[in-house]
Amino acid sequence: MQSCTIIIFGATGDLAKKKLLPALYHLDIENRLTDDTRIICMGRRESSLSDWHDKVTDYVSTKARNGVNQAALANFLDKVSYFKCDLTESASYEELNTLLTDKNQNFPSNIVFYLSISPSLFGVVGDQLAAVGLNKEDNGWRHLVVEKPFGYDQKSARELEQTIAKNFTEKQTYRIDHYLGKGTVQNIFVFRFANLLLEPLWNRNYIDHVQITHAEQQGVGGRAGYYDGSGALRDMIQSHLLQVMTLVAMEPPADLNDESLRDEKVKVLKAIRPITEDMVDDHAFRGQYAAGTVDGQAVKGYLEEDDAPENSVTETYAAMKVYIDNWRWKGVPFYLRTGKCMPESRATIAIRFKKPPQELFKNTEIGDSHANWIVMGLQPENTLRIEIQAKEPGLELSSHTVGMETVETEDTKHKLDAYEAMILNAILGDRSLFLRADEVDLAWKAVDPILEKWAKEQDFVHTYPAGTWGPEEVSQIFDDSCHRWRNNV
Ligand code: BG6
Repeated sequence: MQSCTIIIFGATGDLAKKKLLPALYHLDIENRLTDDTRIICMGRRESSLSDWHDKVTDYVSTKARNGVNQAALANFLDKVSYFKCDLTESASYEELNTLLTDKNQNFPSNIVFYLSISPSLFGVVGDQLAAVGLNKEDNGWRHLVVEKPFGYDQKSARELEQTIAKNFTEKQTYRIDHYLGKGTVQNIFVFRFANLLLEPLWNRNYIDHVQITHAEQQGVGGRAGYYDGSGALRDMIQSHLLQVMTLVAMEPPADLNDESLRDEKVKVLKAIRPITEDMVDDHAFRGQYAAGTVDGQAVKGYLEEDDAPENSVTETYAAMKVYIDNWRWKGVPFYLRTGKCMPESRATIAIRFKKPPQELFKNTEIGDSHANWIVMGLQPENTLRIEIQAKEPGLELSSHTVGMETVETEDTKHKLDAYEAMILNAILGDRSLFLRADEVDLAWKAVDPILEKWAKEQDFVHTYPAGTWGPEEVSQIFDDSCHRWRNNV
């Protein structure tokens, strides 16, 4: 464990309330923060320490697993302070620097800067920190954690990268994709590389196609203003789902070193077959939810959400077909899809195997062969199901599908939030759960042609009633007429 000062920019924002402060509290009660760790919460408004502590108590209490422990909370609050800061004012940073270097205050010299602010301010904050020398590692390390969205397309991501790189090195930069902090996503890696059984089958010779699905029941709620400039492809596929795909598709790394891991993920992203403009309709599909019913509740359509622009064609549902042109995966489609206002909230990876080469049972009760599936549930539960065919009991030669299944329902103690792992790793200096600049760049490269074409085509978007699995027409991206989305685990 390392002592450090954690400075949260944007501490009064939603992410800090819902995720960062509760995650820090949980790390503290798990003894993952040293006693002298300090957390400085930066906010624009004036606030007394006791008012701020009341707020933090609120944020933490609503999220605390097993209820809040008062003694542990008091201990945690001792670490937390508030700092009024105008992000664009150099005086604020001079004051911060004075505070941090004041010997009587005992702030640990290692610093995590957590930027939970609009990316348009990353450059300003970076410049201001550098102006007072706070980016320098003469006395302790400096880790800069940046939240998504990391750019809007490849070009803007590169510009953003340059503004950060002016003041912080790649080694100091921790780009968050909170999916990598999910234990179930890390399990893909363990499942593949801690078992020998699957490796011989894990390639184009045996796998027919892969589906990666993220569905959520919630709509965009009050976020339509932000969401409209993003859309599902940017919001989920460019980041989280392409990351999940790299873990499914990557080669075993040489070791568990963060760079070895990221090298392998980058190789997958580099091998993605480029989509040209004329290929977009065949490789990507968008939809938008209309009014409907989710979980028995009437839900309004996207265009009726507050702040959703009239006639917006922003997609709340997106699907994409990806080919990875390397030895292992050539010709195997990876279908990625995500949607809001879906019938269920779940994320799964479904791997469909090829059928046996000989239709041995064609003229029996068994009939045509069935393909095997491996289905990994990433959330809400961590599940793994392997489906095989078995003879049905009785005199007939007939078969049925049997599933070998593990369900790991995490006990409350271990129901970790992804942010706990992310923050802990940022403190420890382990970058394996964070994105390297080239990963971000290549992920944008993969989706940019689709975004460009969709931006030009502003007159029509398929709709789907809220509470359904998206427009049927999405089947136009399937590369084989027998491919179907698998919606159940
Ligand atoms: C975020 C997106 O990155 O991920 C949200 O901006 C989305 O729109 C969320 O709802 C999904 O994350 P999770 O962890 O709830 O699956």
